[in-house]
Amino acid sequence: TRTQDEEDLPHATKKTMADHLRKYESLFTLTPQRMRMIVEAFKDTLELGLEKHGQIVPMIPTYVFGWPTGGETGDFLAVDLGGTNLRVCLVTLQGNGKFEITQSKYRLTEEQKQEDGQKLFDFCAECLKLFIDTNFEPGSIKDGELLPLGFTFSYPCTQDRIDHGVLIRWTKGFGAANTEGRDVAEMFRQSLEKQKLPVHLTAIINDTTGTLIASSYVNPRTKIAVIFGTGCNAAYMERVGDIPKIKNLGIDDDAEMVINCEWGAFDSFEHEHLPRTKYDQTIDEQSNKPGEQAFEKLISGRYLGEILRLVICELIDDGVLFLGQNTYKLEIPYAFDTAFLSLMERHVFDPTEELLMIIGIFSHFFALETTLAERQFFRALAKLVGRRAARLSSCGIAAIVSRKGYLEEGCAVGADGSLYNKYPGFAERVHEGLQDIFGDKGRNIITYHAEDGSGVGSAIIAAMTKIRKERGLH
Ligand code: GLC
Repeated sequence: TRTQDEEDLPHATKKTMADHLRKYESLFTLTPQRMRMIVEAFKDTLELGLEKHGQIVPMIPTYVFGWPTGGETGDFLAVDLGGTNLRVCLVTLQGNGKFEITQSKYRLTEEQKQEDGQKLFDFCAECLKLFIDTNFEPGSIKDGELLPLGFTFSYPCTQDRIDHGVLIRWTKGFGAANTEGRDVAEMFRQSLEKQKLPVHLTAIINDTTGTLIASSYVNPRTKIAVIFGTGCNAAYMERVGDIPKIKNLGIDDDAEMVINCEWGAFDSFEHEHLPRTKYDQTIDEQSNKPGEQAFEKLISGRYLGEILRLVICELIDDGVLFLGQNTYKLEIPYAFDTAFLSLMERHVFDPTEELLMIIGIFSHFFALETTLAERQFFRALAKLVGRRAARLSSCGIAAIVSRKGYLEEGCAVGADGSLYNKYPGFAERVHEGLQDIFGDKGRNIITYHAEDGSGVGSAIIAAMTKIRKERGLH
């Protein structure tokens, strides 16, 4: 067996690892020039999506009109079906940009993601019932009273009203049957009726839309919202007159509407613009949606661990890593969680601890012993994969910034999701990427940790919708 002692390592091993690393460096590194080319193609794609219906990047008009004033008030329920959890929230908006939130989380099983769609919505309604029974005193909801409910459903849905949304396609590994092509708001309403819940589904929103509105509620400089979680996507505000595909619907040209880009789909099927390695291709081919979400598959938390695992498996097959050890645990698809990448990149300033962490991950979760050279290699590899994800994200942000002309005056980008919040250095790398694209002016674009869009954002949108209704607007 091998020891963890550097002294015992044959020099060749260290040298071999360094050679391999160089190869991966060239595969995973994005030059500023390449990034600028991606930004151009990205911008064209966004514009095409605004012009015509049915494009790969659908640029969905959300029927959320304008920014919140910060003065919205009231109690709102929110159900949030994200990529990993189901969350139910009660949000009290207090005005002046302040709020209180009570919430419960339920982990979704892999089976639930694949079973019949109506059953999935039934589960959402059951969780909401449990939440209401626990958090409201009996009798506190008057007979006939209906609590406004926002449904955060973070998958691409075509909308022609705020309380209606037809699922274009599942993303993030979901595959529930009998749901694509159907109005998910209507399906959810049926589930709510079965439970006889005292609620009224007022809005169906995407997490990015919610994040944009919630972030601007507390920080009005926010112009763009981005999610870096299980999936990756962005939303921003567009003038109705600049959305050719909905221009003739009788909406005021000067009204502003949030666009849910669904940019995770950028470069799907054609694969013309993004630097995909063979590991990315394998992930794509083995996914439940080959060809789709090409941009997301290079960036989001659902896939980064798997990219690293595929590289490691290749080196195992080539007889470079873990010689003489049983590697079966590492050979299971998706066994290497993206959280391990964040852990491996932590403790940047304390190399001893950082490498201890890697010893722990491999021995504890995969029953494997690592040499120092291997640990250094893994950490460098994590850095390459994580850095590429962040720099590609900069390209997406830059495309919106340049379409909207936000570079000169600068803007804030509200960002949320496990990758943004937990991956060490992710935000710094996005900022560095923006400077590589725009030069010094890239500093004018700042990302920051956003408000909870799926809960608070959903409540604010429900409040904004109520106010518009009272005024007899769309
Ligand atoms: C996926 C979904 C998108 C969502 C994003 C982040 O890309 O398609 O709707 O916003 O994940 O959760």
